[in-house]
Amino acid sequence: MTIVHPLSPLRTAARMACASLTMACSPADDGPSELLPAPGSLLNAPTEPLPPTLSEVGLYPDPADRSRVPDRAIAYSPRWPLWSGGSDKERFVVLPPGTTIDNRERDAWQYPDGTLFFKTFAYDGLPVETRVLRKQAMDDWELAAYQWNAEGTDAALLDGDFEVVVPLGADRQHTIPSTLMCRECHESSPHPVLGDAELQLSESPTADGASALSLLDARGVLRVPPPAKPRMLSDHAEDAQTQAVLGWFVADCLHCHNGSDGPSSSFDLDPAVALANTIGQSTESSASAAGIRIVAGSPSQSILFLAISGEHDDPEIEPMPPVIVDAQDLRAIENLRTFIAGLPVQ
Ligand code: HEC
Ligand code: HEC
Repeated sequence: MTIVHPLSPLRTAARMACASLTMACSPADDGPSELLPAPGSLLNAPTEPLPPTLSEVGLYPDPADRSRVPDRAIAYSPRWPLWSGGSDKERFVVLPPGTTIDNRERDAWQYPDGTLFFKTFAYDGLPVETRVLRKQAMDDWELAAYQWNAEGTDAALLDGDFEVVVPLGADRQHTIPSTLMCRECHESSPHPVLGDAELQLSESPTADGASALSLLDARGVLRVPPPAKPRMLSDHAEDAQTQAVLGWFVADCLHCHNGSDGPSSSFDLDPAVALANTIGQSTESSASAAGIRIVAGSPSQSILFLAISGEHDDPEIEPMPPVIVDAQDLRAIENLRTFIAGLPVQ
């Protein structure tokens, strides 16, 4: 069944055209060059168990050439990506044929069963890992990772019991998280998809300059049109430096620091409340060293800065983020340092 927005005849027309095709929904897909997932691959039966190799998943019909993906795979990038050791990332969402994302609740989109999200990590073009997040029945989400072979020609499903450290040479490494670590981030938020929704997609650039939000809309996969004025970081801060700090909280902290009661949740760093919750605010001393999260004008007295930068010798200060950081995000640390140093002292 196709559900359409009652106020939008144009969208209805787009959906009808879409429903008449077997696989693809975008106008760009109408041509003869449409790329379909291989018969028998997971993309054609998205609720089957995950196959042992990525080639059987069907995201990359030829895994040695990652530039070609089936037309149903929608590439996107969140505006505030999670820092992961400076790797390059490719992200895709693949919906079961003929289905849509229910985006009526603006901060908690609902996905049809069998929705697949993929995130591939690569260094200098060579892939190391492809992560999968799959919507199951009963609002359950499955998390798994495929590790690529050294040649970058295919990847094998990991059992997820332990993290896997992949050496990259020259003192660099990439850690593939265990499933438990995936859950620390993806299940501490009330909503397990972390890079979706307006804040992440309304400002994210795509190749043709449109936002990922409008791209999803143009592909006909949103149940209702996105709001005329989607939520943006500029709603919460005017200057670029504050926006960069708040955006970094969204990318690297908000999945745990959301004030919910998830397993690794903690105080709320949503852009609407992050400054009020940190500047001049005490830490919860049972959870870290006693002190003030951000002391205006003084990075070296700000527990939040010390937890991120590691510039201290206090064993009580727990490093943040607390899960796998293969290489520090030095640019974010320097930006935070200048931001705190420049805050007006009351
Ligand atoms: C340190 C926290 C953290 C860990 C650990 C983590 N993720 Fe994520 N993941 C994120 C964040 C934040 C995003 C959204 C931003 C982005 O894509 O850069 C994300 C995005 C994703 C996406 C794209 C869909 C989405 O939610 O936006 C997939 C797929 C994914 N992760 C799977 C996994 C799997 C599988 C594991 C474990 C092998 C894992 N992640 C471990 C934080 C984490
Ligand atoms: C995987 C979940 C997770 C991520 C990601 C994470 N934190 Fe935390 N953080 C926690 C938890 C849980 C605590 C409470 C301390 C504890 O029990 O370990 C905490 C404690 C803290 C504290 C000290 C306690 C306090 O009351 O102030 C600060 C400061 C902090 N986090 C800042 C950050 C910042 C900034 C980021 C992003 C760069 C971040 N954290 C990322 C889970 C996380």
